Amino acid sequence: MRIDIITVLPQLIESPFQHSILKRAIEKGLVEVNLINLRDYSANKQKSVDDYAFGGGAGMVMSIEPIANCINFLKSQRSYDEIIYTSPDGKPFNQKMANHLSTFNNIIILCGHYKGVDERVREHFITKEISIGDYVLSGGELAAAVICDSIIRIIPGAISDETSALTDSFQDNLLAPPVYTRPADYNGWKVPDILLSGHEKNIEEWRHEQSLERTKKRRPDL
Ligand code: ADE
Repeated sequence: MRIDIITVLPQLIESPFQHSILKRAIEKGLVEVNLINLRDYSANKQKSVDDYAFGGGAGMVMSIEPIANCINFLKSQRSYDEIIYTSPDGKPFNQKMANHLSTFNNIIILCGHYKGVDERVREHFITKEISIGDYVLSGGELAAAVICDSIIRIIPGAISDETSALTDSFQDNLLAPPVYTRPADYNGWKVPDILLSGHEKNIEEWRHEQSLERTKKRRPDL
């Protein structure tokens, strides 16, 4: 899989790809992530990528020209399954969308900034708009990082214990059960006996019950 992230702040999202699961997935060649500086596609001397809004009002708008130059160049190199724009008014992101995106070969993520992007970019280039929640971030970079993390970690081979990603919360619309590690007794706070029993089938059943209970209590909407 190849993910091209178009951003005015490439340094802001370098770090998530340099650690842990994402780093290893890149090293193993499971995914290639390219951080593309939008300013490199600006035709003017100042390398500007935004301008005042027609009709007035506070805040700058991301211009269509550098974005069009960048996306057209990328599209001339390969075909893309999806061109995503991160924005608070996009479709709310969830595990099902992450699962679907993780099956693609090539995607572009355009990180929104300022007051947003010239509407013509959304009309003519963007194929999917994603919000990571009902709150406003300073820019789309952190949203892009969240989206990438959730899709890369479920690419087969990204997590060494393959079954681990499948037992995550939300994978079956259930929250994950509680987990414990040593010591089995911490100042009298004990780990449930069943987990120490070694009886795999009973443990599996207990975990499933706990998942159901937790989901009912915390996220009945699921
Ligand atoms: N950009 C700013 N806020 C955002 C959000 N909640 N989701 C995605 N992109 C954003």
